[in-house]
Amino acid sequence: MATRVPLAFLCFMLFASPFLAAKTFDFYYLVLMWPGAYCTQSACCRPTTGLPKNDFFVRGLWTFDSTTGKPVTKCNSDPFYVDQLSSLKDGLNSYWANVKCPSNNGVVYWKKTWKTYGVCSRLNETEYFQAALDLRAKVDVLSLLDKKGIKPSLLYIYGASDIEKAIAEGIGATPVIRCSKGLLGQFQLYEIYICVDKDGKTIIECPVKPRFTCSEEIFFTPFDTNNLHNAPAAPDPAELPVSDE
Ligand SMILES: *[C@@H]1O[C@H](CO)[C@@H](O)[C@H](O)[C@H]1NC(C)=O
Repeated sequence: MATRVPLAFLCFMLFASPFLAAKTFDFYYLVLMWPGAYCTQSACCRPTTGLPKNDFFVRGLWTFDSTTGKPVTKCNSDPFYVDQLSSLKDGLNSYWANVKCPSNNGVVYWKKTWKTYGVCSRLNETEYFQAALDLRAKVDVLSLLDKKGIKPSLLYIYGASDIEKAIAEGIGATPVIRCSKGLLGQFQLYEIYICVDKDGKTIIECPVKPRFTCSEEIFFTPFDTNNLHNAPAAPDPAELPVSDE
């Protein structure tokens, strides 16, 4: 004889299961990237949408769990519609450009960010990208550094803690600096992680800090958008001319 499942239990499962199943995030990392560091490691190409700004780019607005310190990703399979970014195109092309070669329009990278992190944000697509662009503009790291005399240069090196301090004073919370290695093996400013409340607006102290290696003194490698190569997508390798060398 079948046992009757209590109705209350069924109701609980029906209403609670989507919430039990859904992963949730506690805070964002706004990750800003300095293209001058990125472009010393690999050749960089001019986006097909035109020149981006000579400034920090948005790398992502990443959803994280403060307990585990892990990213919260791919929470659902909400689609990505490029049309929903039409009002943000200027901002995205200027500050969320992709200078990877071959030259591209950035869309596949925006899509990847949306499908990985954006869908976990509880913002819709337009709101999510707008939030990231607004945060970038609000923190304006390049100006904060400039005010303290920290400018991209091959002639000077800067204390990593001075860079951190200059940003912290401006935003009211401690950022985390990530370095990469330049051509001669020297550490250089590469990315800046800033923690943001799950409202997508308020900058907060980081509940969990990522750890990266930098030396005490680091380079702030110059970036000049005019040096970006104009490199359309490569033709089929079978059609490439044979080199003379
Ligand atoms: C996204 O949210 C904003 C603000 O709530 C709203 O105005 C807009 O229509 C939404 N977009 C879509 C495609 O639902």
